[in-house]
Amino acid sequence: MAQLLDGKAHAQRILDEVRTQVAGRASAGARPPCLAVVLVGEDPASQVYVRGKVKACAETGIRSLEFRPPAELPQAELEALIDRLNADPEVDGILVQLPLPGHQDAKRALHRIAPGKDVDGFHPVNQGLLLEGLPGLRPCTPSACMRMLAAHGVALKGLHAVVLGRSEIVGKPMALMLLEQHATVTIAHSRTRDLPGLCRQADLLVAAVGRPGLVEGSWIKPGAVVVDVGINRIEDPDLGQRIFRAEPRKLATLRDKGAVLCGDVRFGEAMEVASAVTPVPGGVGPLTIAGLMANTLQASLPG
Ligand code: GUN
Repeated sequence: MAQLLDGKAHAQRILDEVRTQVAGRASAGARPPCLAVVLVGEDPASQVYVRGKVKACAETGIRSLEFRPPAELPQAELEALIDRLNADPEVDGILVQLPLPGHQDAKRALHRIAPGKDVDGFHPVNQGLLLEGLPGLRPCTPSACMRMLAAHGVALKGLHAVVLGRSEIVGKPMALMLLEQHATVTIAHSRTRDLPGLCRQADLLVAAVGRPGLVEGSWIKPGAVVVDVGINRIEDPDLGQRIFRAEPRKLATLRDKGAVLCGDVRFGEAMEVASAVTPVPGGVGPLTIAGLMANTLQASLPG
């Protein structure tokens, strides 16, 4: 039986560290770090995520400002808001929650954020610094996963890491961070041939594709470490029957509540083969928010 990689506990450790540093700086006379969160429209999942981020700010002593313009906001007005926040010396970090409504150009908006305030680490300047292995603001999810792997004592040097997914938010930056730590990295995606066979070669498997239960137990090398970045809400009972064969409790939740959260990995099956697995929920999700708080503190520091 694999060990549970408790993302929640690791996230709490990061949040405690941030809170201590924020308090230390406050007692030396510094103002608290300030994060501006922009949520355009009323996407229900985004509302939940933003609520979590604002709550984490309160818990760590970080000031938060919320901007919730309507979905119809013209692109030019979104960019004008970003310009104002860029110019505001009281604002250290800017987060534009994704996805943006269909008519908005997300890339244009994200590229507008000043790199020093880009706490998501999505700006090309920060992505370029990561590519070069230089310090900068790094995407929250992969950097928090790296911290968790380090805290768990996973020796990355020389091991074969397979990253499933090539998004700019997780897959690509995760691959670069693993490479920086001397792992041998393969990025796999929907067009990869023999995905199960490739995954079976992984000492570390990071799944970030947003496909519920894609990774079966038979795809996992015995003793591998499995990090599941997917957060999927499923309502389909037939899909549940297929992917929760080894998780009767999930199946019961799906039956009783009509929906359940799950990752890209079949957790119950993975627990029978791997040496360590992150659960969903309670795995990578809380780590991402903790990573955001760490980035906001970093953005507020002089220099
Ligand atoms: N939507 C889903 N994940 C993220 C994230 O990490 N940052 C932002 N800004 N939006 C998201």
